[in-house]
Amino acid sequence: MSRVAVVTGGVGGIGTEICRYLAKGGYKVAATCIASEVDKLDGWKAQWKTEGLDVQVFQLEITDFDDCVKVTAEIEEKMGPISCLVNNAGITKDGTMKKMTKDMWDAVVNVNLTGAFNMTKQVFAKMNDQKFGRIINISSLNGRKGQFGQANYSAAKAGMHGMTMALAQEGARKGVTVNTVSPGYINTSMMQAIPEDILKSIIAQIPVGRLGEPKEIAQLVAFIASDSAAFMTGANVDMNGGQFIH
Ligand code: CAA
Repeated sequence: MSRVAVVTGGVGGIGTEICRYLAKGGYKVAATCIASEVDKLDGWKAQWKTEGLDVQVFQLEITDFDDCVKVTAEIEEKMGPISCLVNNAGITKDGTMKKMTKDMWDAVVNVNLTGAFNMTKQVFAKMNDQKFGRIINISSLNGRKGQFGQANYSAAKAGMHGMTMALAQEGARKGVTVNTVSPGYINTSMMQAIPEDILKSIIAQIPVGRLGEPKEIAQLVAFIASDSAAFMTGANVDMNGGQFIH
């Protein structure tokens, strides 16, 4: 029987490719998305049929703990026990500290960090019981190095790896690995929120000379989710075109 993977933010740029490569790797995949995305998914759903991949979508408000309880139960009922969770849902609300409001801080921390807790809480003990699990936290280059105008996002993304390091120790003896992937600047709609001149200057700072592609991140995630990566836990894997080398 195929294992089940849940990908939060599974209909976005990186999320969709993660669903694709997990499904190609033999997982049945549950992608979660927020209410405003649900009605725009006809093409997205149709493409999985064309490709013959088992990817289903579930509406989830990740900041709402009770909704995480409810939707996780629904996924388990429809698809089976969850073996892999990719905490991929993320938002930005950039601004210098001078301009950053409490709402901007709360929104980013609630989705990116507390959302990851809300979902991990639903699956972690069960993964320990079933003696197999993969938690993969999608963090960011900017959680590694900090980014001007992103105190909220950098804090939340760095916090995700703190959670990774703690849980890696809790799951290690039970076959549950917990790892962080830290993408650099990837070619997704999130880039459209960055003013053009700033984006140009960012690309100029990437030694490889281009943005990353979602499928490059997705293939790394699929490897970490596989049996081959059983000895890898607590890691923070950079994929950023050489923008942050340390
Ligand atoms: N370092 C130092 N100073 C900088 C700077 C930098 N990187 N960028 C701007 N400044 C300076 C400006 O020169 C200006 O200086 P003066 O006041 O002396 O003229 C000042 O900061 C501007 O400050 P403001 O508060 O007025 O800034 P702003 O409102 O014009 O813009 C911003 C701030 C919204 C953060 C804008 O700089 C921006 O969008 N930056 C990009 C942030 C970014 O990289 N976001 C990544 C999003 S994608 C992502 O996060 C995915 C991922 O995981 C990688």
